[in-house]
Amino acid sequence: MDQIIVRGNGPLHGEIPIAGAKNACLTLMPATLLTDQPLTLTNAPRLSDIRTMTALLQSLGAEVASLNDGTVLALSSHGLDNHTADYDIVRKMRASILVLGPMLARDGHAIVSLPGGCAIGARPVDLHLKALEAMGAELDLRDGYVHAKAAGGLKGAVIDFPVVSVGATENALMAATLARGTTVLKNAAREPEIVDLAQCLRRMGAQIEGEGSSTITIQGVQALGGATHPVVTDRIELGTYMLAPAICGGEVELLGGRIDLLAAFCEKLDQAGVSVTETARGLKVARKNGRIRAVDVVTEPFPGFPTDLQAQMMALLCTAEGTSVLEETIFENRFMHAPELARMGARIEVHGGHATVHGVAKMRGAPVMATDLRASVSLILAGLAAEGETIVSRVYHLDRGYEKVVRKLRGVGADIERIKEPADA
Ligand code: EPZ
Repeated sequence: MDQIIVRGNGPLHGEIPIAGAKNACLTLMPATLLTDQPLTLTNAPRLSDIRTMTALLQSLGAEVASLNDGTVLALSSHGLDNHTADYDIVRKMRASILVLGPMLARDGHAIVSLPGGCAIGARPVDLHLKALEAMGAELDLRDGYVHAKAAGGLKGAVIDFPVVSVGATENALMAATLARGTTVLKNAAREPEIVDLAQCLRRMGAQIEGEGSSTITIQGVQALGGATHPVVTDRIELGTYMLAPAICGGEVELLGGRIDLLAAFCEKLDQAGVSVTETARGLKVARKNGRIRAVDVVTEPFPGFPTDLQAQMMALLCTAEGTSVLEETIFENRFMHAPELARMGARIEVHGGHATVHGVAKMRGAPVMATDLRASVSLILAGLAAEGETIVSRVYHLDRGYEKVVRKLRGVGADIERIKEPADA
């Protein structure tokens, strides 16, 4: 397994291009199952999760061609000949559950492995299943799989989500495009990735209103056509790299960055003493004069502070002046980066869903372990400003959601390299 070595190297200067959104692409790709016409996605990110979704769709008989160095995905499921999503693929990536709604909507049957939990929480899929049942699906859970049937097709329904769920909103939204009649999704997720999916589905001929608000209304249609759609900018990659100059000093321009994707996050950066300026090519970020100030953070569904940036924000607050409290309200176990940051000298107390961070003047490099995707990059961010050398192991977590991290950070002056883990490590 590879390791990434980071050495504190002073302020950063230059520009970082931001890729297409992993979490948009992972719901746009299954949309190909809704039609036998070709779907082309541009601005696609080059990530291991995308390769996993590609393998899953290909196992169902769909064609997925990766073009233009992986930034264009040409998909077609006219040859769909298998409606079973196997556990050996689904267990690698929870987003695999997003093939359930589209397959059911188009062909009236699907067998999809239950995804199981992951490091940050149990992550059930009950809301996905309840939404599809409300639309008339008959679901039978056995042997770790969901056996789903909708013999006469799905029918429109009013679905009121008790908890905001990005994935359940996406599954229901895709299924509703081909259901008979009208579907109303209440307490729907409002993330930019939902808006991106709705815009793509509309290009395919779907009739959707209200995406981005808590209520989405879908009029089912007989069939959907093909489309070409650009994947929206990855706001989590964007926020992650905005924190690099915030932690190290200097000034970095994030190409393709948009403030509307991260308003709550940018508000917190401003409070902490980080300036964010819109430019013709994206966002320019610099630390204002003086030390970063402590701020409190509560993670919430969009448009609140994103849970996917909580670990990275914690890395910034470890060296802030004062004490910050981070409250994680979305997942039950998303502070695994805290003990690793503590190895670098951070002072963090975790109690349930709260982490109290007492700022220290400087962190010190140390060997640390990545535990999940966003935790892995928070350790790299901390290492950028720490005294000495930080060695991050298990960086396969990183490859799921960040393309070319070493190149992007070296491009702004970071001292960072990727090595093969020594055999005796
Ligand atoms: C999506 O996961 C993202 N993944 C996650 O990003 C992100 O953290 C999360 O949304 C929240 O924004 C993708 O888009 C591929 P949820 P998802 O359903 O859809 C509970 C990353 O780092 N819940 O909004 O799985 C759930 O346990 C990843 O890129 C149920 O109880 O998240 C959680 O507490 C990590 N039952 C809360 O809802 C359900 O059926 C929000 O989960 C579904 C969810």
